[in-house]
Amino acid sequence: MFTERELRKGLKTKTFGKKIYTFQTIDSTNNCAKAVANIGGPEGIVVIAEEQTAGKGRLGRRWLANPNENLTFSLLLRPSVHAEAIHQLPLYVGIALAEAIEKTTGIRAECKWPNDILLNRKKVAGILIEGSLKERQVEYAIVGIGINVNQTVFPADLAGKATSLRLECKREIDRAALFRDILTALEAMYQQGIKNGFGFVVSRWMERSTMINKPIAVSLHGTVMTGIVKGLSREGGLK
Ligand code: BTN
Repeated sequence: MFTERELRKGLKTKTFGKKIYTFQTIDSTNNCAKAVANIGGPEGIVVIAEEQTAGKGRLGRRWLANPNENLTFSLLLRPSVHAEAIHQLPLYVGIALAEAIEKTTGIRAECKWPNDILLNRKKVAGILIEGSLKERQVEYAIVGIGINVNQTVFPADLAGKATSLRLECKREIDRAALFRDILTALEAMYQQGIKNGFGFVVSRWMERSTMINKPIAVSLHGTVMTGIVKGLSREGGLK
């Protein structure tokens, strides 16, 4: 199991990861970070666990990850931005994550709307942002990140769809070093977003996407819609 000391070794961020709660087993790091947020926990706290018994994915799905092989953690943000900006946050997190993964693997990391990271066309990481809004402002956002790092065996139904950093670059990855690179990338980009707005993430995200001008099927409230991806709106929606 990670210790806070090991994770913070050499970490140069100002607030992200200043306090890291580490667990061997927890239901969901997002749930825990949310509980901390609801009692007034400060921006930048991280909850990390080796194993989640009820890890959450998007759209009510489960997030499954072998214990001690991956990274599953949540970061508490308190950005003073308008409620609409909440849709830009997954793009911002996606770019920072893609940059850190690319730095570690040397392989181009791709962003897939709305919040997946792919390596060689297979999913390597997912993002789940759970926000709380107050008077049309973001009160807090829990950024949940799951990355397949050193896992080499996946359930049969994910064959050809999921991969890990280790499978793609054929060596074991230092998880703590990757975690620090991610927090560093997230904080640097966050400071820029807070200063100038998160609008810049749209073009940066599109540079990392191979979806543009390609056909897509999107499930919306149980209805499947098909179309051609033309880009992203400034708010982060799919055009
Ligand atoms: C997705 O791809 O559907 C999003 C997956 C997000 C998973 C992470 S793991 C850490 C955090 N805690 C959770 O319960 N979920 C997120």
